Amino acid sequence: MCGIFAYFGPKEKAADIVLKGLKKLEYRGYDSWGIAAKQKDGRIYIEKHVGKISEVISLEDSLTSPSHLAIGHSRWATHGGVTQFNAHPHADENNKVVIVHNGIFENYAELKQELIEDACLFSSETDSEVLAHLIAKNMDEGFEKAFQKAISRLKGRYAVLAICEDEDKLIAARRGSPLIIGQGEDTYFVASDVPAFLAYTKEVMYLDDEQMVVITKDGATFSSLESGKTIKKRLISIDWEVEEAEKGEYPHFMIKEIMEQKDTLSRTINTAEAKLNEIAKLISRSDRAYIIGCGTAGYVAHIGEYLFAEIANKEVIMRPASEFHLSARFLTEQSVVIAISQSGETADTLEALKLAMNAGAKIVSIVNVESSTMARISDKILPIKAGPEKAVASTKATTAQIAILTLLAHASANKLDEGRQLLIQTMGSINDMLNPRYEDHITSIAGNIMNVQDIMVIGRGISHPVAMEAAMKMKEVSYIHTEGFAGGELKHGPIALIEEGVPSVVIAPDDNFKNEILSNAMELKARGALIIGVSPENAEVFDYWIKTPSAKHANAITHIIPLQILAYKLAVLRQHNPDMPRNLAKSVTVK
Ligand code: F6R
Repeated sequence: MCGIFAYFGPKEKAADIVLKGLKKLEYRGYDSWGIAAKQKDGRIYIEKHVGKISEVISLEDSLTSPSHLAIGHSRWATHGGVTQFNAHPHADENNKVVIVHNGIFENYAELKQELIEDACLFSSETDSEVLAHLIAKNMDEGFEKAFQKAISRLKGRYAVLAICEDEDKLIAARRGSPLIIGQGEDTYFVASDVPAFLAYTKEVMYLDDEQMVVITKDGATFSSLESGKTIKKRLISIDWEVEEAEKGEYPHFMIKEIMEQKDTLSRTINTAEAKLNEIAKLISRSDRAYIIGCGTAGYVAHIGEYLFAEIANKEVIMRPASEFHLSARFLTEQSVVIAISQSGETADTLEALKLAMNAGAKIVSIVNVESSTMARISDKILPIKAGPEKAVASTKATTAQIAILTLLAHASANKLDEGRQLLIQTMGSINDMLNPRYEDHITSIAGNIMNVQDIMVIGRGISHPVAMEAAMKMKEVSYIHTEGFAGGELKHGPIALIEEGVPSVVIAPDDNFKNEILSNAMELKARGALIIGVSPENAEVFDYWIKTPSAKHANAITHIIPLQILAYKLAVLRQHNPDMPRNLAKSVTVK
């Protein structure tokens, strides 16, 4: 949610380096963007715009002199509409102090009032602008002191960067929103996510909550926001490849990441046996086990609930992370909370984990970003190793998370080898399934339904959360109203929505619920629905059939993939950019 990026180094094209880096972070927020560059003559040049950054090539011609220090921001609006004034960076009225901010300053209204009474002139409706004025007010004490004083007055979650006219320094601080420092030769980068600087360096240092860093030409000094004490940081090498974070020959990240599912599962399959067994033991000894996540990760958690029940006969209760407060009161030191997250930075999930930590429960996180806050606060982590996921709609991380849960459920039932064998076979069938003919078939179905108002998706058993996830994927990228239901729930209300020609996707794997879900399909068809069957076998009730591999306990994986493709095709045919759906952002770091 909002991408921020800074460069400080010997190269004199800081504005363009930041421009390039911001493009790689655009998936985090894309309603407006802006850059501030400190020029050789000391003055700060600011440029900001509404809209996507993608088309802009260079800013250097606008600068009056070269720049070696710049900060940038791509926005996902929280406070204040999408306007040029509200786009970051924000400055005090004299342009002396310039900041960018990701997060929310909860007490901004009272601070703004106080600053206005102090004759400060505001030029935006954002909460963020207060920080620039607060720092500017105390600049006679020096930039660093003024920054510390300002930040101590702010409540809420944030990652911020600040520069000023008077000193050659970049200051960054975080509380609750990610910030990573990349270190090259005499060069520093600060970003919300690694892909922004992956082309320059893989050596990183993580800024933790309640910490700040001051970067000058002599190096980076980390300290505690509270005590002011200096903190030593370890340089860590990350193993992401530049190509993994690029689109390559694909038109969009979403389809690239869908196709990568041919490979991503193989990395999951190799998760160490000892680690899986250790976590399985923790779960089996617990008095209560919960599994939580938000959005797609929440549906994965729901799939996990079925996997533990069906494979290990173990109850692991799913809760949407944003509503976990309901169950948190029952946690004890013997409880386990499993968090599912791609980014590891989702604010609602982190808040839920805070409740779990307060109760002394053990935390296991299943994350893609191993360096994330979630991973770092967990007792145990199971990294899914799906590589960078850039499309806002999660695809490859989803199936990798389901795969890890499949292994963990098998480990809980003392049959991990069986789980691995199952996933190896599933990988083979995914490879066979993902061929151009298959994609064309789904494209032609998408072409036939692309102009509808509503789509229904139904499933039973584990296919119920799969139906909800499929519906989520379709609505978020195609903007067609799509709802996922349990097949058995149809007749209790949702069937009222069915009329002539409403496409209804029926997920019918080869499992115990097949006959029942086919009966539900008949009920829909009797009321005029157009039935799209997603199943290993064709059935008379299907108007269209998308063939799926039969994969036993891995059916959730083989049945979600074709529906990810259908969602993608619907978006593209309706001329929407599936990588950047409206109103959304990857990594939701506000509550
Ligand atoms: C939808 C999607 C979101 C995320 C949710 C949680 O396609 O990707 O619903 O699943 O915002 O994000 P993470 O997994 O980063 O915690």
